Amino acid sequence: MNRLIKSIHQELLPELQIESLTPHNPVVVHQVPAPWRLLGTGNYAAVLYHPSYPDQVVKIYAPGRPGIVEELEVYCRLGSHPAFSKCLHAEETFLVLERLYGVTLYDCMHLGLRIPKQVIKDIDQALDYARGCGLHPHDVHGRNVMMCEGRGLVVDVSDFLHQGPCWAWDDLKKAYYWLYLPFFCPLRLRLPYFFLDVIRAAYRLYRRLVPRRS
Ligand SMILES: Nc1ncnc2c1ncn2[C@@H]1O[C@H](COP(=O)(O)OP(=O)(O)OP(=O)(O)O)[C@@H](O)[C@H]1O
Ligand SMILES: [Mg+2]
Repeated sequence: MNRLIKSIHQELLPELQIESLTPHNPVVVHQVPAPWRLLGTGNYAAVLYHPSYPDQVVKIYAPGRPGIVEELEVYCRLGSHPAFSKCLHAEETFLVLERLYGVTLYDCMHLGLRIPKQVIKDIDQALDYARGCGLHPHDVHGRNVMMCEGRGLVVDVSDFLHQGPCWAWDDLKKAYYWLYLPFFCPLRLRLPYFFLDVIRAAYRLYRRLVPRRS
């Protein structure tokens, strides 16, 4: 771990260029120093790993994006559960997390991978577990949950201290049972990222116009 942290400070942070243009779209990473690899981006942070330490990832928040202290607090409260990562180290701008090996449900839709019901059930159970830890699962959307060998994982818990309502997971489950299982899954449709991003934007608009459930 010490060597990894040294490499983060000496190789990664001085070279990495990361920018958050808007809070509703993934951060843009302009430059990743070798041999570091970019694993994923969210609206607030970029996640990278070093090939010599493949089981750990570094989540670096873009300048000006808050939430790192809250995310650390969530990991402390979650303790150990197979569907969640763990925080191994924290500093002002980055966290070192246990790597989850899986494909986000968003990428599953792009790749045309079949998502079994068990994945949805595992995530439901994991979110119940989080509630039992005094947390409020929030912002559980397709890029924040993963499938790994037919099981479900929750890869991003950064908003679990927010107490406001969030329908993302309930809506995603409805889309899974009403659209994905009957139509998309049998046809093995692979959806281009452009199309997935249009759905994402349309959903955000829909939830702004219809913020509450009747
Ligand atoms: N522990 C992990 N193991 C493997 N991949 C990860 C891990 N954490 C994050 N990732 C990948 O990096 C992406 C971005 O991470 P994350 O969702 O935590 O960022 P974020 O900016 O907090 O996202 P959001 O926009 O949902 O707030 C994820 O969608 C996932 O692909
Ligand atoms: Mg995320």
